[in-house]
Amino acid sequence: MNRIRKAIFPVAGLGTRFLPATKAMPKEMLTVVDRPLIQHVVDEAREAGIEHFIFVTGRNKGAIEDHFDRQFELETTLEMKKRNAELERLARDLPGPGEASFTRQQDPLGLGHAVWCAREIVGKEPFAVLLPDVLVKGKPSCLKQMTDVYAELGGGNVIAVEEVAAERVDMYGIVGVGKPKGRAFEITQMVEKPARDKAPSNLSITGRYILQPDIFDLLEKQQKGAGGEIQLTDAMIALAKTQPFYGLKFKGDSYDCGSKIGFLAANVAYGLDRPDLGDALRAELKRLLDK
Ligand code: G1P
Repeated sequence: MNRIRKAIFPVAGLGTRFLPATKAMPKEMLTVVDRPLIQHVVDEAREAGIEHFIFVTGRNKGAIEDHFDRQFELETTLEMKKRNAELERLARDLPGPGEASFTRQQDPLGLGHAVWCAREIVGKEPFAVLLPDVLVKGKPSCLKQMTDVYAELGGGNVIAVEEVAAERVDMYGIVGVGKPKGRAFEITQMVEKPARDKAPSNLSITGRYILQPDIFDLLEKQQKGAGGEIQLTDAMIALAKTQPFYGLKFKGDSYDCGSKIGFLAANVAYGLDRPDLGDALRAELKRLLDK
């Protein structure tokens, strides 16, 4: 069984829900406290042992590439001012030389197509996919929980799932639940954005995946699905016919930062958790709520 070394971050989406903030800036650069969304998700992947970070970008996403590079002028200024703590923090966030790849999804054909765009960089080994719209606050990180389960199960495909309210099932991929398997369970069914009365359960796909490379051949042939897009879920349905597919109810809280409420809630939750900010933010929130 191969260890999971590579992760794909699909970051080509336009972010129309956050206009005008995202007019001239990628939505993945919106900050939760003082770290861009994409940095939080890269941190999660790092904790799970990921060594190569593959960003599937699009036009106007240059800031993401710049974010994961050195910033010479800034570093020189910080050096001159002897701001060593900041310098060290910046250095820690950087992928090492050659550890990040960027490729472009030229047309917005869907998540499945975005993942397929990374096929040459991934090659023939299992890999992870992390959607930066979703932040998962977990200890250990959600992807680390998944790679541990993947190792325990001896391979296959593993996706993170969580319970959602019945009236929200049509916003996500939803799975059918089979026999338990260690900490995970066998997936019997997957449906992308089902009608409320057609959902096999209330367990939604969270946006964290460990997949075998055979998915790329299926994605290549994949027809358009829900919303007229090439869906990753549809290729996973095809893959599950020939390979084991497991769901893991991860431990932790997820924040759908593709929605304004989820994004604001994430800022509060991550802020409250910060040793340097938590107490002051709690007091400020209390003041606002008591008004
Ligand atoms: C994507 C996936 C869906 C998953 C969701 C998680 O949908 O297609 O299966 O449940 O992410 O956020 P999107 O949010 O891109 O429409």
